[in-house]
Amino acid sequence: MNYKQEFANALEQILDGVLSLEEILSMIEKPKFNHMGDSAFPCFQLAKIYRQSPKTISEEITQKVNVPLFEKVEATGGYVNVFLNKKYVTKQTLELIFSEKERYGSFHVGCGKTITIDYSSPNIAKPFSMGHLRSTVIGNSLSLIAEKHGYHVIRINHLGDWGTQFGKLIVAYKKWGDEEKVKRSPIKELLALYVKFHEEAEKDPILNDLGREAFKLLENGDKEAMDLWEWFRDESLKEFMKIYDLLGITFDSYHGEAFYNDKMEQVVDLLTEKGLLVESDGANVVQLENFPPCLIKKRDGTTLYATRDLAAAIYRQDNYHFDKSIYVVGNEQTLHFKQLFAVLEKLGFSWQKGMTHVPFGMILRDGKKMSTRKGKVVLLENVIKEAIQLALANIEEKNPNLIDKEEIAKQVGVGAIIFHDLKNGRMNDIEFSLEDMLRFEGETGPYVQYTHARAAALLRKGNYVRETDYKIELHDEEAWQIIKELLSFPEAIERAMLGLDPSQIAKCLLDLSKAFNKYYASVKILEESHKQDRLSLVFAVKTVLKEGLRLLGIQAPEQM
Ligand code: ARG
Repeated sequence: MNYKQEFANALEQILDGVLSLEEILSMIEKPKFNHMGDSAFPCFQLAKIYRQSPKTISEEITQKVNVPLFEKVEATGGYVNVFLNKKYVTKQTLELIFSEKERYGSFHVGCGKTITIDYSSPNIAKPFSMGHLRSTVIGNSLSLIAEKHGYHVIRINHLGDWGTQFGKLIVAYKKWGDEEKVKRSPIKELLALYVKFHEEAEKDPILNDLGREAFKLLENGDKEAMDLWEWFRDESLKEFMKIYDLLGITFDSYHGEAFYNDKMEQVVDLLTEKGLLVESDGANVVQLENFPPCLIKKRDGTTLYATRDLAAAIYRQDNYHFDKSIYVVGNEQTLHFKQLFAVLEKLGFSWQKGMTHVPFGMILRDGKKMSTRKGKVVLLENVIKEAIQLALANIEEKNPNLIDKEEIAKQVGVGAIIFHDLKNGRMNDIEFSLEDMLRFEGETGPYVQYTHARAAALLRKGNYVRETDYKIELHDEEAWQIIKELLSFPEAIERAMLGLDPSQIAKCLLDLSKAFNKYYASVKILEESHKQDRLSLVFAVKTVLKEGLRLLGIQAPEQM
């Protein structure tokens, strides 16, 4: 049931073509205050068209709106305000949630379609950065949201496991490396070698040539170089897996950049065949109309990040036949993806229209971008572990007899970290704050989880039985506020998919939690009269909170 749509349909008829349905839909607002109704249509634009005052127009329209879903229509301050029929809407919403349960808020637009989602994609031999964390949790949530819309989702971790930096690393390891140390803490040690390489190369530029040569050997399949590379990759992946395990995140494919090494010649051939490859300064590039040229092959014949992404896109289309393909990668790579899509278009691949770069804001420290170059990094694994420890300490203090404490602490600590990221609009920059990430009160994941656990406890205590036949009789204003939030859940899911932004769902869950906690504070839910009716509302809240958290990649413990 979509009351905004019904309102718009009625307005379209009344206005008889003066505004299109899309225009009307985009104009309908949510009134600032509850007493002004549930939905409002501003008449200021119409006033210009009709050369009449907004007041007159809103009064005229008000006379004509006749929709059973609305119990009252009112003209105020140039707006047409409509009030939902509470009894009718309450019954409809709750019955829908009871029949659909966790399927509530599902859509079918993606049925029979495939979407590939490229996310996380950290770089081997480097720490898993906060930026990669953003990509990981946004991408994971978008995968779940896409599935909720019926899409067949392929989750791809395009590991950064190829490129000149591996040549440098091989040189550094052979010069200064220690096998035991690398085994003990691979990422730390490999990063240290990488940093040392850059320091030394400033003094002795010959090292850079050695690095390039080593990468060339690697691209040509040299045994020693390959063995070292494989070892670095395995050790790094083991470390990354610890993080994915903690976060509860999985992928369908770990084909990283290296996977495309033997598929690159094909791309170069294709570009040559189509006459797109031109020489520039000894390198091979594709000229683009609206962007700087896309570099395909360096002077020494080695390939680049962009070349590998071209090969990957073609491989994904050939293998998964995707309808849509999205890349959850930081803002700073916007140009790269524009170039990538433009080259694919030049190649005549119409499927590139389904490709989207989903950028996100940076994690800042004191207003500046955090850098891994200098070797100063926050180790993500430690942050997650700290969150879990804190959650455990919380439980020990408040609920020491809780069964399965460790598991629940893990769900809550991880929930705090994921929610902290996803509640922010995707494009917002986030100031890094360990304290904020580990906060459990206020607008946090644990707050929503706690609200869910509170609802679960009420259902247990009240012996809720859904099967009994009862009338839904909820008249309190607090209950109505909850119904409205429940009603907006499917819309939030839809908006999250359209804008590829999970924060829509996070915000909806916060509003629902607040409405429910108000209800809890002011209504004696377990008092006998109407108990089952009130519990049915609690059941609906619990169902939606749990499903909403799931869509963000967060678990909802029954007790905490
Ligand atoms: N490894 C890259 C980085 O950390 C991100 C890769 C994103 N995916 C892609 N297909 N380019 O910057």
